[in-house]
Amino acid sequence: MKLFLDTADINEIAELNETGLVDGITTNPSLIAKSGRNILETIKKICEIVSGPVSAEVTATDYAGMIKEGKRLAEIASNVTVKIPLTKDGLKACSALSKSKISVNVTLCFSTAQALLAAKAGASFISPFIGRLDDIGSNGMNLISEIVEVYSNYSFSTEILVASVRGVQHVVDAALLGADVATVPPNIMLKMYKHPLTDKGLEDFLTDWKSTGQSIL
Ligand code: E4P
Repeated sequence: MKLFLDTADINEIAELNETGLVDGITTNPSLIAKSGRNILETIKKICEIVSGPVSAEVTATDYAGMIKEGKRLAEIASNVTVKIPLTKDGLKACSALSKSKISVNVTLCFSTAQALLAAKAGASFISPFIGRLDDIGSNGMNLISEIVEVYSNYSFSTEILVASVRGVQHVVDAALLGADVATVPPNIMLKMYKHPLTDKGLEDFLTDWKSTGQSIL
């Protein structure tokens, strides 16, 4: 399973990229606004740090505008994936950009029917937002399960990118279902390392080791 970071914070990206575990980045207009930086400069800088796919979202809502913005974003670097909302115009733009070999991540997916259309439109990634479904009392993980089944039935190559992740358990559940990617905020990636028994076990080993008076080097 690939792990993407869901942030436009260049410092956090640079730091976590050092772990060697970051396979890509997702951004959206809210994350760009939060960064306080220019979108084109920010995406360029992120693409210099991370070699995997970097999603940059269009803000036009009409077909022609999405194509223009998508092409501009794709020019920034070869690893840019153009993020397009799941609307009628959006999927039309997804088809056209994908045909011209531009990678597209279709975002704001909340149903299996939408995910089916995105795959047929040639999307490289589909982003179902599980946390936002959970927020309204629905079950986001059921959506992932259905998309995994439908994509497998027809061998679609569109990768399932689990988005709107709210905690470590979401990542584990997505992995159990065989999702291709989870995009996680940096704080959730850091939480994935943690287990209280790891901390306690290490503390005990080091206490016992100290009592031996030995040193490895
Ligand atoms: C990523 O592609 C999405 O834009 C992001 O995961 C949305 O997360 P949120 O629901 O926490 O804003």
